[in-house]
Amino acid sequence: MNIAQTSSFHGRHIVVFGGSSGIGLATAKALKTQGANVTIVGRTLERLQTAADQIGGARYAVADLADRKSIEAIFDDTTQVDHLVITAGGIHAGKLVDSDPEKLLSEVNEHISGSLYAVKSVIPRMPGTGSIVLMGGQFSDRPTGDGTSVMALACRGIEALARGLALEIKPIRVNVIAPGFVDTPLYDAFGAEGRAALLAHAAGSLPIGRIGRPEEIADAISFLLSNEYMNCEVLHIDGGGRFA
Ligand SMILES: NC(=O)c1ccc[n+]([C@@H]2O[C@H](COP(=O)([O-])OP(=O)(O)OC[C@H]3O[C@@H](n4cnc5c(N)ncnc54)[C@H](OP(=O)(O)O)[C@@H]3O)[C@@H](O)[C@H]2O)c1
Repeated sequence: MNIAQTSSFHGRHIVVFGGSSGIGLATAKALKTQGANVTIVGRTLERLQTAADQIGGARYAVADLADRKSIEAIFDDTTQVDHLVITAGGIHAGKLVDSDPEKLLSEVNEHISGSLYAVKSVIPRMPGTGSIVLMGGQFSDRPTGDGTSVMALACRGIEALARGLALEIKPIRVNVIAPGFVDTPLYDAFGAEGRAALLAHAAGSLPIGRIGRPEEIADAISFLLSNEYMNCEVLHIDGGGRFA
C-alpha cells in the first residue's frame, strides 16, 4: 500500500486558489502526492497549464478573486469540494501618505471579498467533514511601518472572518495559515536586485537566519486540512518573525 492510498486526502477533491505559483503550487503538489484530486485556480491560463504539468495532473480554472462572477462560474460543473485552500493574491503595499487608498484596498478586495465569494460558492458543495484554509500573514500581529498597514488589515480581517464562518457553517472547519517571508515569485515584482535585497534583509531579521520555503507552508496547510480537531485557528509559520 502506498502513502497516497493511506492518506486522508485519497480521492478527495481539493480546490487551491493560487495553485499556479509559490505557496499554492507547493500546496497543490503536496496534496496531489497525498492522493487528492486537485483543482488549481488563478488569473492566467498559461501559468495554470504549466503548473498542472508540474503537479503531475490537475484540473485548472481561470478566475480572479476580485471578480465574483468568475469565481462562481468555476463551480458550475462541480458537485463536491472536500477542501478549499485560498493562497492567491499579490502585494498591494504602500504608505497611506503616498498612496491612493483605492489601490491599497485592492488587498482587501482580493483577500476578504475573494474569500467570501469562494467560500459562498463551495458551501453547498462541501460535506460536513470538509475544511477551509484562508490566507493570513504576520503583518496582522507585526506592523512594519513601511507600507503594510492595509495588508495587516486584510490579514486581521481574514482571521476574524475565519472564526465567525467556522461557527456559521459548522461542522465545516475554517482555519488560517499565517506565513512570514517565503521565497516565492511574489517578490519578482521588485526586480531581481530589489527582490534579493528585500529577502536578504528579511532573512537577517529572523532568529533562524533564513526565510521560509513554500514547501514548509504547504506542509502546515496539509496539517490544517487533515487534523480534524483544528478549527478557528491561526497557524503562524514565520520563523519567529513576529517576535524578532
Ligand atoms: N510569499 C510570502 O512571503 C507571503 C507571506 C505571507 C503571505 N503571503 C500571501 O500569500 C499569497 C500568495 O503568495 P505567494 O508567495 O504564493 O505568491 P505567488 O508565488 O506570486 O503566487 C500567487 C498566486 O496567486 C494567483 N493570484 C494572484 N492574484 C490573484 C487574483 N486576484 N485572483 C486569483 N488568483 C490570483 C497567482 O496567479 P495569477 O497571477 O496568474 O493570477 C498565483 O497563482 C499572497 O496573497 C501573499 O500576500 C505571501
